[in-house]
Amino acid sequence: MVKLGVNVDHVATVREARKTDEPDPVAAAIAAELGGADGIVCHLREDRRHIQDRDLRLLKEVVRTHLNMEMAATEQMVKIALDIKPDMVTLVPEKRAEVTTEGGLDVRQNHEQLAETIPALQNADILVSLFVDPDVEQLKAAARLRADYVEIHTGLYAEAKDAEEELAQLEKIQHAAAIAAKLGFGVSAGHGLTYQNVRSIAEIEEVEELNIGHTIVSRAIMTGMEQAVREMVKLIR
Ligand code: PXP
Repeated sequence: MVKLGVNVDHVATVREARKTDEPDPVAAAIAAELGGADGIVCHLREDRRHIQDRDLRLLKEVVRTHLNMEMAATEQMVKIALDIKPDMVTLVPEKRAEVTTEGGLDVRQNHEQLAETIPALQNADILVSLFVDPDVEQLKAAARLRADYVEIHTGLYAEAKDAEEELAQLEKIQHAAAIAAKLGFGVSAGHGLTYQNVRSIAEIEEVEELNIGHTIVSRAIMTGMEQAVREMVKLIR
C-alpha cells in the first residue's frame, strides 16, 4: 500500500505572507495525521521563506507518524538536523531565487559534500533520502553513497504539456523506480503531484511513498486538512 507523506510548507507560506502566527503548520500536521497521513514533510529553507526553526522543533514533538525534513546539504542544516533528529532527512538542491525545488540533486557533481553529509546523518539514526531526477546515472551515483532512500522527482511528469509528453515522463519514472529498487533503495516520489495526475505514479509497484504538498494544502483551504488528506489517501490506495 502506497504511503502518503503530507508536506505542510505552504501552510507556513500563508502565515509568512502576514508574518503572523496563523495558520500553523504544526496544527495542520496534526489534522493531516487525523486524515490518514503516514508521515509529515517540511522543508527548512536557508531563507526561511515558509517553515521556521520553531515549526521544525514543534513538529518533532507532535508528529506521531514519521517526520521527514527536507533540506540542502549544508553545514548549518546538518547541525540543525542532528539537533532535532527527524526520522528522515531528504537532501534537495536549493537555489535562493527558485519558487520551488526545480529538479533533483546532481549527485555526481556533489559527491564529496554528500559523502560527508550522508554518514553524519545516518550515524545519528536518521534515514537519508536523496531527491533525484529519474536518471539512471544519478541513481548509480546515489547507490555509491549508500543513501537509504531515493525520492524520484515527478516535476517534469506533472508539467507535461500533452498526453504524449506525460507518458514519456511516466515511463522514465517507472524505469527509474525499477532500477532504484534493484539498487536496494526504498523508493518514494513527489513534486507537482495533484489529485488529477497522482494515480499513474501511485500505481508504480516499486514506489512506497508519495510526498505531496501544494495540491493538498490548496484543497485543504476549501475542505479542511483532514478531508483533503482523506481524499488523497483514497486516491493513491
Ligand atoms: N518532494 C520534494 C523533494 C519537494 O521539494 C517538494 C516541494 O517542497 C515536494 C515533494 C512536494 O511538492 P508539491 O508541493 O509540489 O506537492
